[in-house]
Amino acid sequence: MPEARRMPDNRSRIVSGRALDEEARLDASVRPTNFDDYIGQDRVKENLQIAVEAARARGESLDHVLLYGPPGLGKTTLAQILAHEMGSSIKISSGPLLEKKGDLTAVLTALDPRDFFFLDEIHRLQPALEEILYPAMEDFRVDLIIGQGPGARVHPYQLNRFTLIGATTRAGLIMAPLRSRFGIVHRLDFYTPADLEKILLRSAKILGIAIDQDAAAEIARRSRGTPRVANRLLRRVRDYAQVRADGHVTLAAARDACKMLGVDEHGLDEIDRNLLLTVIQKYSGGPVGLNTIAASLSEEEDAIEEIYEPYLMQLGLLDRTPRGRIATALAYKHFEIDEPRRQPGLF
Ligand SMILES: Nc1ncnc2c1ncn2[C@@H]1O[C@H](COP(=O)(O)OP(=O)(O)OP(=O)(O)O)[C@@H](O)[C@H]1O
Ligand SMILES: [Mg+2]
Repeated sequence: MPEARRMPDNRSRIVSGRALDEEARLDASVRPTNFDDYIGQDRVKENLQIAVEAARARGESLDHVLLYGPPGLGKTTLAQILAHEMGSSIKISSGPLLEKKGDLTAVLTALDPRDFFFLDEIHRLQPALEEILYPAMEDFRVDLIIGQGPGARVHPYQLNRFTLIGATTRAGLIMAPLRSRFGIVHRLDFYTPADLEKILLRSAKILGIAIDQDAAAEIARRSRGTPRVANRLLRRVRDYAQVRADGHVTLAAARDACKMLGVDEHGLDEIDRNLLLTVIQKYSGGPVGLNTIAASLSEEEDAIEEIYEPYLMQLGLLDRTPRGRIATALAYKHFEIDEPRRQPGLF
């Protein structure tokens, strides 16, 4: 699927929202295709497994599913697993790719019974297209407009019963009318290091990478709770081990490679550090607006909000307040910078 919004210079980055080109091929080989291989997210997985089993027993299509959460946590993977487990085929598109009403209508009318339609970045779907989705999701109907001007007529068209899987990194941008039409809504959370370690060992096996368990655990800790980052780090560490060692990924090789990549023991990279240091040093710890931070770092606001901030907040290094971003006491401690005395009642 072409990515409409590619971040600049993300080829060498370990942390970036989108899958890189070179990754697509490798991704396909390590991407789990069934529930058994999908590691972690136990609550979400169990709920979905029950929904699938029930729908299958009734011989019905699965309810529409909305998956949200930071990039790289497995939304696309889950959509494909759901289709696979239901024995259905899946058609894939994304909000920014659908430009005209006809684009969406064409996809919907081509769906076979129980097909899955995966709509990625659903928060970027145009409002006019979102309105087409409502009757399609609710009544499996689209209204085709035949002709133009005063002579135009509306023809209701009955669609096959299908399952829409919507995915978004920005649940806050999904309006209530759309959200309420999904029968199943799940948020994916960051993975534990233990789960990431399992994911890494599985990927290493598939890719034929010799890796020690303590090395996998080390990479897992530095993967910011994100399988995509874990798999990406694994490949870079493998390169390092190949060139600097005998190809075997040891703990030492993992640590050295991460150091060379600028990934610290918490998984923070240079942009994370710059972001926090900008807030601390340039703006006295905040509050400072997202647009100001983005301008200081020459990064896109979206990237900061979707990729960097969720993990920094998860670590408790950054707070979002109505007045802007604030570096926490923990952030000062992380950089061994003395925290200034803040005026009480300032936030
Ligand atoms: N639970 C999991 N177990 C094993 N591997 C996983 C799991 N979840 C994700 N992965 C791996 O991480 C990669 C990224 O996952 P995926 O593309 O599904 O993320 P996403 O949430 O759709 O990201 P985006 O928001 O950028 O579209 C996949 O290629 C897959 O190999
Ligand atoms: Mg995806």
